[in-house]
Amino acid sequence: MSTTRRPVIGIFGAGKSGVAIARLALDAGYTVRIASSGNADDTDQLLRFVAPGAEAVDTRDLPALADVLVLAVPLRRFRELPLHGLAGHIVIDVMNHWPPIDGLLPEFADAGRPSSTVVRDALPSTARLVKTLNHLGYHQMEDLPRPPADPDRAALAIAGTTPTPSPPSPASSTTSASTPSPPARSPTAGRSSPKVRSSASTSTRAPCAAPSGSTTAGRPGSVR
Ligand SMILES: NC(=O)c1ccc[n+]([C@@H]2O[C@H](COP(=O)([O-])OP(=O)(O)OC[C@H]3O[C@@H](n4cnc5c(N)ncnc54)[C@H](OP(=O)(O)O)[C@@H]3O)[C@@H](O)[C@H]2O)c1
Repeated sequence: MSTTRRPVIGIFGAGKSGVAIARLALDAGYTVRIASSGNADDTDQLLRFVAPGAEAVDTRDLPALADVLVLAVPLRRFRELPLHGLAGHIVIDVMNHWPPIDGLLPEFADAGRPSSTVVRDALPSTARLVKTLNHLGYHQMEDLPRPPADPDRAALAIAGTTPTPSPPSPASSTTSASTPSPPARSPTAGRSSPKVRSSASTSTRAPCAAPSGSTTAGRPGSVR
């Protein structure tokens, strides 16, 4: 029997995309914690209805209570997040520069510089940024998943940073082995979580497959 602990998914933003991702992750069996701009009690009231089973936490506490962190806040507000706490985490950026919503943000106005590179540069160097899901509408995130091998599966674009290999040390300079990646940080292991508000009920919806990067049949999604 495997004793591998599944990563805890932390989501900044309890809006349209954050809730859709939360429900997918819950259905796939993950522990999900969500922070919104309000306090955890307010977020908990919302989650009881829109993502039962997800746990509400305060924004400042989320990095220490999750392994994988999803940025699902309006891009104009991402610098309000406790970015320093994202060190060592896998960070999933689903945000877009969407002027009708965000206004025209000068730091994201350079068409030659994707928004995710601005986000990456704002994160600690040990955060590993993954850009995905931003090309789907929130409704599509939940409508498109299909079981493996289903011919109607949709493609999901994924781009990410890779750890920079350390230069070989004198002791290892005669070998050709590549430098292994550092182990993923596990901030939640063995940790109690007093700030977590857990909604009372659990999801009764049928499990569904989360979108996968290995899917094949591509269909365009709207970008929001
Ligand atoms: N909507 C889509 O279909 C879709 C699809 C893919 C990607 N995206 C991208 O995802 C991002 C979010 O879009 P959305 O449509 O989900 O937005 P939304 O429905 O307006 O939700 C945004 C959420 O972020 C929260 N938030 C704002 N500032 C915060 C902060 N400092 N700390 C914690 N939470 C904060 C908001 O909380 P309050 O309400 O309490 O302020 C709200 O729960 C955007 O960049 C968008 O381009 C959207």
